[in-house]
Amino acid sequence: MNERISSIGVVPVIKLNHPERDAAALAKALCAGDVPIAEVTFRAAGADVAIRLMKEACPDMLVGAGTVTTTAQIDAAIAAGSDFIVCPGFDPELVAYAQEKNIPIYPGCTTASEYHMAVKYGLEVIKFFPAEQVGGLATIKALSAPFPMFKVMPTGGINLKNLKDYLSSPVIAACGGSYMVTADLIDNNKWDEIISLCRQSREIVKEARG
Ligand code: 3PG
Repeated sequence: MNERISSIGVVPVIKLNHPERDAAALAKALCAGDVPIAEVTFRAAGADVAIRLMKEACPDMLVGAGTVTTTAQIDAAIAAGSDFIVCPGFDPELVAYAQEKNIPIYPGCTTASEYHMAVKYGLEVIKFFPAEQVGGLATIKALSAPFPMFKVMPTGGINLKNLKDYLSSPVIAACGGSYMVTADLIDNNKWDEIISLCRQSREIVKEARG
């Protein structure tokens, strides 16, 4: 899982208000844009429905659940066919629960204390949120000195302008962001624009990694 996410390099962070209407079309657009992955956030009700519909539309794509804050959401995500779980912060109960259920979990860690917890739970990849607001790549690099065992998935304030800087660092597994799947793009069915933003992002992944 970690290798596949890392090879794609970008993870669209999605809030779908109308999963029945938009999930399948969005999944197809992401795959057409060579970004066959999504983090579907539980910020909107029906995230599990969206996950199921996206997997049905594009069975080979990776679809994870984001903004997960309860074990009930982990259960709903697993029942919907979710490939992974992402949390904004580090909740030991959720990490242990996901590990018990054998589903990869990427909890948010932005402090040395949270990195300590990630060591304790044997994690290899952690989310770093909200990346830009807590110091961006400089903070990630500083934390990676004492904690070189982690690859990091930053999200929060990442876009086409700063994506290359992040991806150029070997500490970064992949960058998450909503810039290629904004509410405006989805609600107005701007699938071609989403495809184009995905392709531009993939170009940047390739440039950054040589
Ligand atoms: C997340 O949940 O990971 C972030 O809200 C994504 O941040 P962005 O909207 O700034 O890309």
